[in-house]
Amino acid sequence: MAKLVLVILLFSLGMAMPLLHGIVEDDDEWFQNLHYAKHKVTRLHFYLHDTLSGKNPSSVQVAQASSTKKSSTIFGAVFIVDDPLTESPEPTSRPVGRAQGLEGSAGQQELGLLVAMNFVFTTGKFNGSSLTILGRNTALHPPSEMPIIGGTGVFRLARGFVIANTHSLNVTSGNGILEYSVVAIHY
Ligand SMILES: *[C@@H]1O[C@H](CO)[C@@H](O)[C@H](O)[C@H]1NC(C)=O
Ligand SMILES: *[C@@H]1O[C@H](CO)[C@@H](O)[C@H](O)[C@H]1NC(C)=O
Repeated sequence: MAKLVLVILLFSLGMAMPLLHGIVEDDDEWFQNLHYAKHKVTRLHFYLHDTLSGKNPSSVQVAQASSTKKSSTIFGAVFIVDDPLTESPEPTSRPVGRAQGLEGSAGQQELGLLVAMNFVFTTGKFNGSSLTILGRNTALHPPSEMPIIGGTGVFRLARGFVIANTHSLNVTSGNGILEYSVVAIHY
C-alpha cells in the first residue's frame, strides 16, 4: 500500500514538474538568483496624510451599515483611501509615495480598523515598488502594528511589519498625519 502511494506520488510529481518548469522557464535572472539570494532588511520612515474633509479628501467613505451612525466606533463604515506619503510631517515635504487601499471599521467595543493597503513608492530605488499591509489599526490608541504580507518590485516576497503612530490629529475634521516606521525583509 505504502509502495503504491509512493509510486503514485512520484508519478504525480513527475507529471507536475515539467509543467511547473514550463511556467517558470522563461522567467528572468531574478528567479534564477533567488536560490542563492540572502534576505535584505529595509527600514523606512515616512508620514501619511489622511484627509477626510475639504475640497480634496484623500479618504472617502464608500459604504456603511444602517446602524453605523448610531455606533460610537462607526462600526460598519468602509473607506477607500489614496493618501500621500511624505518624507517629513509637513504636507509640502518631499513626496515618497501613496498609500492606497481600504479601511473598514470592524470593532464594536473600540475603534479598530481593518486595513488592507498598498504602499506604492515613487522615489529612488523603491520607485514603482510596493508593500502590501493587512492588519488592524487602533487609530485612537496608537501605536498600531500591522503586518506586511507581501510586495512587488524590489519588495517581491516581502514580509515584515509597520508601526503607525499619530503625529497629529484634528478630531473636528478627522484629518490626521501619521508617522510610519517600516521593517521589511525581502530579497
Ligand atoms: C519613477 O518612475 C517613473 C516611471 O518609470 C518615472 O516616470 C519617474 O520619473 C520616476 N520618479 C523618480 C523620482 O525617479
Ligand atoms: C480642525 O478642523 C476644523 C474643521 O475643519 C478647522 O476649523 C480647524 O481650524 C482645524 N484645527 C486645526 C488646528 O487645524
